[in-house]
Amino acid sequence: MTEKDFIATISNPSSIDSGKYTWKTPSNIALVKYWGKKEHQIPENTSISFTLDACFTLTTLEFSKKKGDSGDFEVYFEGEKKDDFKPKIATFFERIENYCPFLSDYDFTIHSRNSFPHSSGIASSASGMSALALCVMSLERSLNNKMTDAYFYKKASFLARLGSGSACRSIKGSVVVWGNHDEIKDSSDLYGVEFSDDIHENFKNYHDTILLVDEGEKQVSSTVGHKLMFGHPYARNRFEQAEENISKIKEILKSGDLKAFTNLVESEALTLHAMMMTSNPYFILMKPNTLKIINKIWEFRKETNLNLCFTLDAGANVHLLYPENEKEEVNSFVVNELIQYCQNNHYICDRIGFGAKQV
Ligand code: PMV
Repeated sequence: MTEKDFIATISNPSSIDSGKYTWKTPSNIALVKYWGKKEHQIPENTSISFTLDACFTLTTLEFSKKKGDSGDFEVYFEGEKKDDFKPKIATFFERIENYCPFLSDYDFTIHSRNSFPHSSGIASSASGMSALALCVMSLERSLNNKMTDAYFYKKASFLARLGSGSACRSIKGSVVVWGNHDEIKDSSDLYGVEFSDDIHENFKNYHDTILLVDEGEKQVSSTVGHKLMFGHPYARNRFEQAEENISKIKEILKSGDLKAFTNLVESEALTLHAMMMTSNPYFILMKPNTLKIINKIWEFRKETNLNLCFTLDAGANVHLLYPENEKEEVNSFVVNELIQYCQNNHYICDRIGFGAKQV
C-alpha cells in the first residue's frame, strides 16, 4: 500500500454530528530498536517490539460538528486541562489532515490518562498517539461503514506513526514489526504489522519488569536523538546491523533459543545507547544505577544460568525481560537486590499483551 491508499473515502458524510470514542492502547518495548528516521516519519531501519499490557493509555475523543469556523480542540490529562499538551497534538492533527480531511468538520475534546505515572521516565508517546489514532479511526469508520477491519487497523497504525514512530507498533498484536524487510511478510515503512510467524512457547507470557531508575524528564528528547543520526559516523553500519538483527530475531522467536535472544536484545540496547554516546553533540541517558543493575543482571545470570535479560529505551530505566517459568526467581532477585537502585523503590510489573482495545 502507498500513502495515497490512506486518504479517507467518506461514503456517508453527514452521518454523525457528535459522539465519543474511547480506546485503551498499550506501550511497547522494542527488541530491535528504531533510532534514526527520514522525512515523514519513515524509519531508517526495521524494528520489532513486544506489546505491553499493564502500561497503557486510556483516551476518549469527544467530537461535535463545528459551529462556524471555530475548529478547535481541548486536552485534559487525568482530569486537568493541559494546554501544554496541545502543540504536540496540533502537530499530529496537521500531519494527518491530508489523510483525514473530515477532521476539519469537528471540534474535539480529548481526555487521556496513563496507567503509569506521567513522570516515570516511561515514554507515553507510543500509547498516547496510538490511542488518539484509533479514536480518529473510529470516527472515520462511522463516516465510511464499508471499511474493513484490516484497513481500520492498518490506517490506525499509519496515523499513529505520524504522531510518534514507535506508536505504530502499539495497535494490534503481541509482536509487531515496523519497517520494510525482505523476510517479514507484508512489512512496510508506513505502518506496523503483526509478526505472523509461529512464536515459540518460551515467548508466550513473557515478562517485562520495568525498573524506574530515573523518574524525571529525559534531558534529550527522542526527536533530537533521531536527528543526530544524520551525519552520524556509524549510522550506515547501525542501520545494516538492525536489518540483520531482524533476520536473526525472526529465527530466535521461532526456535525459542533464549540464550540467543538475550545476546541479541542486550546488544541492541547497548548499541542504541552507543549511538547516543557517539552522536555530536554526544549525550548519555544511562545513570550510574542503570549500570549497577546491568552488572547485577550479568552476575545473576552467571550464578543461576537463568534467562533474565535487559533492554533499554531512550532513558535510564531498565526493562527486565524473562520467561514465565522464571518469574519466581526473578521476582525475588528484583525485590532483594534491584529495587535499591530504583528511584523511590518504584518498579512496574508488566508482560506481553495483545494490543489495543475499544472500551
Ligand atoms: O517513537 P519515538 O520517536 O519516541 O522513538 C522511540 C525510539 C526508541 O524507543 C528508543 C526505540 C524504539 O524502537 O521504540
